[in-house]
Amino acid sequence: MRKKIVAGNWKMNLDYEEGLSLFSEVINMVHDEITGKQQVVVCSPFIHLHSLVQLAKGYSKISVGAQNAHQAESGAYTGEVSAKMIHSTGTEYVILGHSERRQYFGETNELLAKKTDTALKNSLKPIFCIGETLQQREANEHFNIIKQQLEEGVFHLDATQFSALVLAYEPVWAIGTGVTATSAQAQEIHLFIRNEIASKYSKEIADNTTILYGGSCNPKNAGELFAQPDIDGGLIGGASLKSRDFIDIVKTFN
Ligand code: 13P
Repeated sequence: MRKKIVAGNWKMNLDYEEGLSLFSEVINMVHDEITGKQQVVVCSPFIHLHSLVQLAKGYSKISVGAQNAHQAESGAYTGEVSAKMIHSTGTEYVILGHSERRQYFGETNELLAKKTDTALKNSLKPIFCIGETLQQREANEHFNIIKQQLEEGVFHLDATQFSALVLAYEPVWAIGTGVTATSAQAQEIHLFIRNEIASKYSKEIADNTTILYGGSCNPKNAGELFAQPDIDGGLIGGASLKSRDFIDIVKTFN
C-alpha cells in the first residue's frame, strides 16, 4: 500500500532559531498526537536541514526535506547547493519542480528531469510538483499540461527510479491564494495522474505512488481532500508555519 504523507513546505520563511523552535513543537505534537501510519515531512530552507535532522533522530514518523537541489554533481556554481551536500546532512527528501521555481527561476521540464536524475543518484527522494496555471485551466489545457510535465519531467525514469518519487499536484491558482481546488477537481486530476503512471509503467507502480495535493490546504479542508481515493496527503505551505494547524492537518489520517 502506498504511504500517506503530509509534507510542510516552509518556503523562504523562518530564521534559524524560529525554524528550530517550530520544528521542536512539531516533533512534540507528532509524538503526542499522531496515532496513524502517516509520515510527516518538513521541507525547510537549506540552513536548517542539518539541525532538523539531528532533532528528528529517534522519531521515525518525521523526515526532513530540502526545497531545491542543483542538477550538477558539483562545480563552479556560486551560491548553489548540490544533492550530495543535502544528502550528507541526513536529509531524505527534496521538493523539485515547485511552481515558484518554475515561475521565478525559469525551471523547465527539461531542467527538472536533470535535477530529478541527480537527486535520485544521490539517494534523495524527490517530491515532484506539477500543476496548471489558472489561464491553462480556463483554456481547458490542464490535462495536457499535467501530462507534458510528467512526460518531460519524470517519465524518462525506469520503473525502479520512478518508484522512489512522491508526486504533488499543486494547481498554481490555488497556491497561497486561499482558493482550494474542490475535492472533486483535485480527485479528477489525481486519478488522471495515476492512470498516466499505469499506462507508462504498470498498475502496480501506479497504485504504489503517493500523490499529494497542495494549494491552500488547511485543517478545515484537509479532511474532505484526503478522503478522496487518489489523494494520499498534502504539501502544505502557509499552514505548515503554524504547528497547531500543521498537526491538525496531519491528524486527518489518524
Ligand atoms: P499554500 O498552502 O500556502 O497555498 O502553499 C502550497 C504550496 O505551494 C506548497 O508547496
